[in-house]
Amino acid sequence: MSTPQNYPAYIGGKTIYAQDTFPAINASTGRPLGQLARCGAKEVDLAVQAATQAQQQWAQTAYEARALLLNRLADALEQATPHLARIDAEDVGRRVSEVMIDYQIAVAQYRYFAAAIVAHEDFGRPIPDGYLIAKRVPLGVVGQIIPWNVPAIMVALKVAPAIAAGNAVILKPDENASLSTLEFARIANDIFPAGLINVLTGFGEEVGSALTSHPGVAKLAFTGSPEVGRIISQAGAKRLVPVSLELGGKSPNIVFPDIDDMDAVVDNALFAALYCNGQSCLAGTRLFVHDAIYTQFVEKLVAAARRVRIGDPSDSNTQLSCLISASQGEKVLKYIQTGRDEGANVLTGGQRVTVAGHEHGYFIEPTILETNNRMRVAQEEIFGPVLSLIRWSEVDEMIKQANDVCYGLAAGIYTSNLKNAMETADRLQAGNVWINRYFNLTSGSPFGGMKESGIGREHCRETLNMYSELKAITVQTTVPQPWFAP
Ligand code: NAI
Ligand code: MG
Repeated sequence: MSTPQNYPAYIGGKTIYAQDTFPAINASTGRPLGQLARCGAKEVDLAVQAATQAQQQWAQTAYEARALLLNRLADALEQATPHLARIDAEDVGRRVSEVMIDYQIAVAQYRYFAAAIVAHEDFGRPIPDGYLIAKRVPLGVVGQIIPWNVPAIMVALKVAPAIAAGNAVILKPDENASLSTLEFARIANDIFPAGLINVLTGFGEEVGSALTSHPGVAKLAFTGSPEVGRIISQAGAKRLVPVSLELGGKSPNIVFPDIDDMDAVVDNALFAALYCNGQSCLAGTRLFVHDAIYTQFVEKLVAAARRVRIGDPSDSNTQLSCLISASQGEKVLKYIQTGRDEGANVLTGGQRVTVAGHEHGYFIEPTILETNNRMRVAQEEIFGPVLSLIRWSEVDEMIKQANDVCYGLAAGIYTSNLKNAMETADRLQAGNVWINRYFNLTSGSPFGGMKESGIGREHCRETLNMYSELKAITVQTTVPQPWFAP
């Protein structure tokens, strides 16, 4: 990745160089990394044609054959992980050691769906003089649009279940983070039939909207902002195709006074807020700390936040690196100012810092704001290293506040009382509740949101149902007696 180059799109197993291009930029240095194909309606058309052909064949393959190739892909990605992680560190600005973990999770997704499809059983039952078969069939060509924060996992969450279920995919990465997905396409195209996995780079309003409105696309899957989620939903509604959405979050992370290892909880709560430099829909961004332990907890939390090593994304010692872009960085700084304006107390952080040699990057200090739940900084997704701290004393009121946001993606609970943990988990409006360990996403654990956090669940067996539909076939051994008397 030392010299900038031209990157193609992948259509029908071939590399396609577009006339129009746009730059890929190193997030921390601002150095150009290459030119990307600026795809549009024409490329979408070509990709739909190629994908349609490929899908018809693929739908006929045995589940075992699909599993074999998914496992080969997992092996190849595992091999390529250090290389892919370096690409993301440059392109996205994420710290390399963290991206290595993303790839482990991604690789596990391909293996998981390889296993899940082989274990999938259609259902049927005898009926008088016959048999009913209800089987799952693929939808066809699916259009998938992903964001920039965790390319490895975003690609895996979309591609693995879609391919396992017998579809072909047209995947559009984010314009700020396409390089590792192109490398993924190169690897995947050596393994899968031509046209099964197509990757089109470009902008949302151009290639993205051409993809969502194309009549040959049978399903839309999206991860990103609620604003664009609504646009995608409308595109799906116009053509009456199913849409699955994974949108934002403002997840509560709740500390009860009976925790027995405060240092561990402080560390885990900070990790919940700072993974991916805070650019995660799942981030635990509202930390509810009980009054009885508040002072001591917050002292430890602030000290831990100040110890976080901010630095070069490619340095394995770095614990927090830069945000994806100047506009995301400015958005986060503006939110911090909004917090000050509405009376939040900045306990630590709040500033952009300069890292030598990476002056272009938006490195923002881990920022802890003492807030109440009604402030904008406690209600809106900031997508940066900013934590809203909320003091609580009464359980019912705390639960009410924890649920009082438009989102419902994740939640965390720390307590040593199992009964309390389970009762609290039941009362939280969240697709994922993690007790005593934030981000505890093991393979097969359903992932997706309630309320405005989205529609559908990824990362689990149920996801195969999002990428297929039921078809009933009823068999009778004899044609019935005449209905109309002769
Ligand atoms: P975005 O929603 O604009 O971008 C996500 C993807 O949608 C990109 O691939 C983009 O090209 C595409 N897109 C944009 N407009 C489109 C259109 N009209 N038709 C089809 N595709 C379109 O997200 P953005 O602007 O990068 O981030 C804004 C905020 O969204 C963040 O600050 C964060 O709060 C939230 N977000 C949430 C994510 C999540 O994981 N749920 C991921 C990224 C952002
Ligand atoms: Mg970039």
